[in-house]
Amino acid sequence: MRVHLAASAAAAAERAADIVEEALRTNPFPSIGLATGSTMVGIYRSLVNRCLNGSLSFSKTTVYLLDEYIGLDAEHPQAYRNVVMRSFADLVDLRSEATFAPDCRAPDLNKEARRYDSLVRAARLDIQLLGIGGNGHIAFNEPGTPLDAETRVVELSQATRRDNARFFDSDEHVPLQAITQGIGTILQAKHILLVAQGAHKSRPIRDALEGPVTTEVPASALQLHGEVSVVLDPEAASLLSADY
Ligand code: F6R
Repeated sequence: MRVHLAASAAAAAERAADIVEEALRTNPFPSIGLATGSTMVGIYRSLVNRCLNGSLSFSKTTVYLLDEYIGLDAEHPQAYRNVVMRSFADLVDLRSEATFAPDCRAPDLNKEARRYDSLVRAARLDIQLLGIGGNGHIAFNEPGTPLDAETRVVELSQATRRDNARFFDSDEHVPLQAITQGIGTILQAKHILLVAQGAHKSRPIRDALEGPVTTEVPASALQLHGEVSVVLDPEAASLLSADY
């Protein structure tokens, strides 16, 4: 695991974008796993700027979403496909057919989750971007999830619904379920990039990086992967005891 300590949240986003760019250069037809949430905003902005200034192209890239809410209309602004299109995919030279996500309006959601799992595993993503939840979740794999879990339908925990309420009109509008890539699916990526900013991430980051590998901290499963980069701002890194 390579831990990068950035001087600020903005510097962390730039460093993360550098790592994505390096990973894309290793494959003429690269694939990226995309997360959503506040952590990703600055990273996508930086990648978009690199594309607009001509230093980076996504014309041969394929992207795969990490997760998607169940129960939102196709046009809902907080549906993760729409978030990713608005903040990244529509702003760069990605082909229109190169964005994949679980279809949470499919008639059989369990079957759809299995289909998406096979798709992502077959793609062997060059890099998977991840944020971390305040409870240590990655994607929507909540504490207690088996570390080899596949892509599946999940119930969102109260803690996660509370955290995500800021994106909705009120708490009760936060969906109850999602389709999420499983921890086992995420671990299939060639390179995983975990980014965290802010003091509210310091505990889950300490537990994930320096605690035991345990289902109680889903992000601790990243210790099982040989190619993980972690980018932190000073607040997110503040409880780490090792010298990185
Ligand atoms: C989003 C996702 C979540 C977030 C995590 C951190 O696709 O899967 O695991 O990465 O909840 O969210 P932020 O960045 O909003 O703190």
